[in-house]
Amino acid sequence: MTHYILAIDQGTTSSRAILFDEKGARIGQSQQEFPQIFPHDGWVEHDPEDIWSSTLSVCRSVLKDTGIDAQAIATIGITNQRETTILWDTETGKPIYNAIVWQDRRTSEFCQTLSKQGLGEKVQAKTGLLIDPYFSATKIRWILDNVEGAREKAQAGRLAFGTVDSFLLWRLTNGQSHKTDATNAARTMAFNIHTQEWDQELIDLLGIGDVLFPEVMDCSADFGVIDASWLGAEVPVNGIAGDQQAALIGQACFTPGMVKSTYGTGCFMILNTGDEAIRSEHKLLTTVGYRLNGKVTYALEGSIFVAGAAIQWLRDGLKLFSDAKETQSLAQQALNDDSVYLVPAFTGLGAPYWDPDARGAMIGLTRDTSVADIVSAGLRSVCYQTRDLVGAMAQDGATFSTLRVDGGMVINDVMVQFLSDLLEITVERPCVTETTALGAAFLAGLQVGLYQSLDEVALLWQADKCFEPAMEKGTGDTLYRGWQKAVDRVRTRD
Ligand code: G3P
Repeated sequence: MTHYILAIDQGTTSSRAILFDEKGARIGQSQQEFPQIFPHDGWVEHDPEDIWSSTLSVCRSVLKDTGIDAQAIATIGITNQRETTILWDTETGKPIYNAIVWQDRRTSEFCQTLSKQGLGEKVQAKTGLLIDPYFSATKIRWILDNVEGAREKAQAGRLAFGTVDSFLLWRLTNGQSHKTDATNAARTMAFNIHTQEWDQELIDLLGIGDVLFPEVMDCSADFGVIDASWLGAEVPVNGIAGDQQAALIGQACFTPGMVKSTYGTGCFMILNTGDEAIRSEHKLLTTVGYRLNGKVTYALEGSIFVAGAAIQWLRDGLKLFSDAKETQSLAQQALNDDSVYLVPAFTGLGAPYWDPDARGAMIGLTRDTSVADIVSAGLRSVCYQTRDLVGAMAQDGATFSTLRVDGGMVINDVMVQFLSDLLEITVERPCVTETTALGAAFLAGLQVGLYQSLDEVALLWQADKCFEPAMEKGTGDTLYRGWQKAVDRVRTRD
């Protein structure tokens, strides 16, 4: 009898449900986009009811489309956009404000105040993070300060906080389970990654002590059982991880030194550092890779805000082509010398620069610069930014020889080959590029005994193609120096 695993992948722009069999083969998939809300410059919100209804709807459709009954699902895994913050009234089940999305910059000033108070050192030592609006804690504070009645509800002990995983779990279990996993907790700026507990000192300093924090579990655990009314049967939830960490699992990066990079709208690179929580001196984040059987595997993370979004801009903004698939042949027609550079700092620069005020630039244009050259510069900008992260990781003492890539962009062979050339390492692309959902499915499967160990999971990972460096030695360094000069021209701070 086949055992099915349902993976829920609640992302920034869409909710997806993917049904896997126990070998990790995809049986069916359903996806639904939902509205992005931009109330002010730099603010990004989601309606939690949209998150909930789209999630429920894709779960129901994947079962309907595949004709598989909920009773045949052995377990559910949830993976989610990280950091996004929801506060809800535990008596009514209703959120008291929209979800404040990870991209939202409204708490920038509050973060600056915290930094000026000299809290940066303490925050990094305890949480592995840099003080930034990106993380949940200052978003919680904003809701408490700005939503009428929020503090009173919190003081009355009826205001729950959760990242998206917790909120979905709470709803799916009809309020029976208020839990999260260590990877999501690690992105709140209120969780001590060394003691694996909510950090009361930070919570008090941030003034968010009255809200109810979820219980933090391993990534594979008994999170709760979903009410039969939602999908037609009671099904246990046994896996939860933030989406980038789930991709680390889906890419089977289980040995220290293994690294994955996911190229979606942005790019998130995560390096497994094993038992060691490496403190970054080069503005990378120290985070939880995964926690299983109480044992934490740490990771270093670098986040680039604009990767695929640069290609979207070339397509929808500049209208240089109509389908992203065309970028491969356009890039092949480009001159590909070191003349044109696109720095896609549309919303500032992420790691390792953390420069929110930088803005984009295209340099090196001449009369014979073609559309192909500009498109190639866009693709290459993603690779140059990856090299920035690899450089920062190396300066922090990490070394690796292989990179596993996934996400929508990596179907482009020209881009992945250039990545390998530029980094001078082997780049591996897996057969299943839905690594985020697959990771959540593996976590859930581990808990219910469909897999006995990570070694067994690792055997299911298969490469579709390995890209080896082929460019003449030194060429990559020359091209990269040109990139660094281009970035220097847009930076506003050191
Ligand atoms: O940290 C934010 C990240 O988890 C968002 O991922 O794939 O939903 O854009 P994604």
